Formats: sequence, C-alpha cells, structure tokens
Amino acid sequence: MIEALVPFKAATAEHFGDAPDRECLFPQELALMAGVGAGRRREFTTVRVCARLALKDLGVPPAPLLPDEWGAPGWPTGIVGSMTHCRGYRAAVVARRTSVQALGVDAEPHRPLREGVLGAVARPEEQAALADLGGTICWDRLLFSAKEAAYKAWSPGAREGGARPRSLHDIRVTLRPADGTFRAEVLPGHPEATSLEGRWLATTALLLTAVSVPASP
Ligand SMILES: CC(C)(COP(=O)(O)OP(=O)(O)OC[C@H]1O[C@@H](n2cnc3c(N)ncnc32)[C@H](O)[C@@H]1OP(=O)(O)O)[C@@H](O)C(=O)NCCC(=O)NCCS
Repeated sequence: MIEALVPFKAATAEHFGDAPDRECLFPQELALMAGVGAGRRREFTTVRVCARLALKDLGVPPAPLLPDEWGAPGWPTGIVGSMTHCRGYRAAVVARRTSVQALGVDAEPHRPLREGVLGAVARPEEQAALADLGGTICWDRLLFSAKEAAYKAWSPGAREGGARPRSLHDIRVTLRPADGTFRAEVLPGHPEATSLEGRWLATTALLLTAVSVPASP
C-alpha cells in the first residue's frame, strides 16, 4: 500500500504481522532492545526487516539502523528514509538522496483520536477545517498522521534549511479530501522553504500518510 504514496524512485516494504524474533538484528541494534518489552522488540525488528528489504531493492547492503538523539534512524550514506509501525502494520521507505531529499511516513489505526489529543496537536484553524469534513474517514486521526509524517521528514540531517518543527503544533496541515493529498507547513518560517506536499490513503483498518521532498535539480 505504502508504495502508492511515495515517488516511484523510492523503494518500499511493508509487513502486516511480525517477522520472527530470530530475524537478525545487528549487535548495536540488539543492544538497544535489551530490557525492552516484547511488543517494542517485535515492531523494532520487523520494521528493520522491512527497511533492509527496501534497501536491498536500491542495491544497498544491510547496515545497522540506529536512532539519533531525536529517535530518527540513521540511514546509510547517500540514503534517505522513514519507518513507521502501528498495530498490525510496519513499513519502511527509502530512496537515494540524489532523487529524493527527505521522506516521512506514518501509519495509524483507522479510528478517532483519544479525547484531548486533537486539542493538543491541532491548531485552531485545523480544528475548524475538520469540522467541515464529513463521510466515514476519521479526519482527526488522518490530520495527526499527516503531521507525524511531516515531522519525520524534518528529521535532523534529512532536510537542510527551513524552520524545524519543535512539536506537532508547529506543523499546519491542510488535508485535501478530494485527491488524497495534503500540504504541511512548518510555522513560523518562509512559506517557500517550509511547505511540503504529502499523500494519504485510508483503508477500513489503517490510515497511511507520506511526505516526500524531491531532490533539487
Ligand atoms: C517521532 C514521532 C513522529 C514518532 O511517531 P509515532 O507515531 O510515535 O511512531 P511511528 O511508529 O509512526 O514511527 C516510529 C519510527 O519513527 C522513526 N522516528 C522516531 N523519531 C523520529 C524523528 N524525530 N524523526 C524521524 N523519524 C523518527 C523511527 O524509525 C521510529 O521507529 P523505531 O524507533 O522502531 O526506529 C512522534 O512520536 C513524535 O514525537 N512527534 C512529534 C513530537 C511531538 O509533538 N510529540 C508529542 C506528540 S503528542
């Protein structure tokens, strides 16, 4: 599914269950999982299995994918990427930096946000826009997901220049229900430097969002 949301030059892999725990993690990755719960270990492992499959499609050999101080994964030299996991879904997207400058993907269960979350992450104008949307899609959760995808695309090193969001509140998302796209702007900042385009997809169980920034010509 995720491949529908990213440029064709990106490689993707997704998993709707979990890879067996014996799937190889590098020693540095295993060390990070010491003492963590089984659920976290499974999502961490499976999403890295996805990432290695996607990297293989680009011809990149497996390498440890370790988080930086912000939690953003460190990709092999010359590669950009993003990973996401939620109940029943894990996905990784990677691309060569020569074709894509930054990627951010997010998956969420397709159900409304818990009470109080929307107010914490959405700007007043975003909440007003949601009130006008109808139908069966959980727009509040989709807005949240789009913000997270945009947030990831601004991970350190992924994107030079432009304002970096400190929180989801710093990202203003405009959902476009008609064509499955959205715009994410980081505030404050120069609109031309901080506006990203994204795509979204809804199934009965999942909401997926992705932001990609093309490489400069
Ligand atoms: C970082 C954040 C976007 C992760 O999103 P999430 O829905 O919790 O988790 P997902 O499963 O979609 O994604 C997790 C993956 O994102 C990646 N990730 C984590 N932090 C990241 C960052 N700062 N930049 C880019 N990617 C990041 C990692 O690969 C992580 O998986 P891993 O730990 O197994 O490697 C989110 O937790 C966050 O902090 N958002 C913004 C800050 C904020 O406002 N927080 C308050 C939210 S109410």
